[in-house]
Amino acid sequence: MNNLENLLNEAISLFDSIDNTTELEQAKAHYLGKRGVLTEMLRGLGKLSPEERPAMGGHINKLKKALEKTIDFRRETILSKKMEAQLTREALDVSLSGRGLGMGGLHPVTRTLERIESLFRSIGFTVVSGPEIETDFYNFTALNIPKNHPARAVHDTFYIDDGKNEHLLRTHTSPVQIRYMQSKRPPIKIIAPGRVYRCDSDVTHTPMFHQVEGLWVDENVNFSALKGVLVDFIKQFSEHEELSTRFRPSFFPFTEPSAEMDISCVMCNNKGCRICSYTGWLEILGCGMVHPKVLKYVNIDSEKYIGFAFGLGVERLAMLRYGVNDIRMFFENDLRFLKQFN
Ligand code: PHE
Repeated sequence: MNNLENLLNEAISLFDSIDNTTELEQAKAHYLGKRGVLTEMLRGLGKLSPEERPAMGGHINKLKKALEKTIDFRRETILSKKMEAQLTREALDVSLSGRGLGMGGLHPVTRTLERIESLFRSIGFTVVSGPEIETDFYNFTALNIPKNHPARAVHDTFYIDDGKNEHLLRTHTSPVQIRYMQSKRPPIKIIAPGRVYRCDSDVTHTPMFHQVEGLWVDENVNFSALKGVLVDFIKQFSEHEELSTRFRPSFFPFTEPSAEMDISCVMCNNKGCRICSYTGWLEILGCGMVHPKVLKYVNIDSEKYIGFAFGLGVERLAMLRYGVNDIRMFFENDLRFLKQFN
């Protein structure tokens, strides 16, 4: 009896010291397996006298049951400890606030372009586009700017190294006028927004910027139409009915007469400040009546048709609308700046 009790105690303390299931199963086999201690003992019953046998058998079976119970209990403890450890390791703090989805937004220049396009669409202009890599012909010659014309020097052109200086990055959107008129006959009423390039960089210039070209050619377009369209456009764009505008005589080889349109400075209300160079006015576009020579280049009868054209600076308008005083901020990709527009 004592022996059996010792065996039980010894087995229990062995099981309690084990903390993984593999070892536990080995320990189980040691006692209860085919060649286990208890199995051998049961086998040994045959050697006992028939009187001793039932009692001894009963004791051993009790012991067997006790061991099985201990082992099952121990196995459960080991498994639940393992599960607990895993849960702590892979813990998910559901009370932590999420990172959120970063919403994208439109660039202020894109927003400005969309606004300009929708205003012109509403008065019947179609939106078209042309290539940014242009030929010397479309960017200059066909616009009445022949080789060696001083107007070429005004455009700080990026030439493409093709050995002949034939290709360049367009310096304005005006070549789209030529491309469009080559294939279409009047009435023509288009705007052509897009990127243009000039070798220039300071607070009000970046080497890449955006223009919107406008062209309206028909049988009786006149300078009043030009003024009406542009003044109305800028008032609607700026949502400022009382905005003052003025047209100054200017020169472009592809328009005659030519003008530049100014609006009263939105920063100082025409009083004069750093932004308007103390003139009270801001220049926003170049315009004029399409030069007959340009119409001739595209085989449009300049006796029958007449038109006006304009080219406006998109960043300029975006700066006015959003009160940005350094054009370079548009292209630095600084999210602190860009996020303010969405
Ligand atoms: N292309 C001219 C520029 O970039 C602007 C312009 C366009 C002027 C159309 C007159 C007519 O400066």
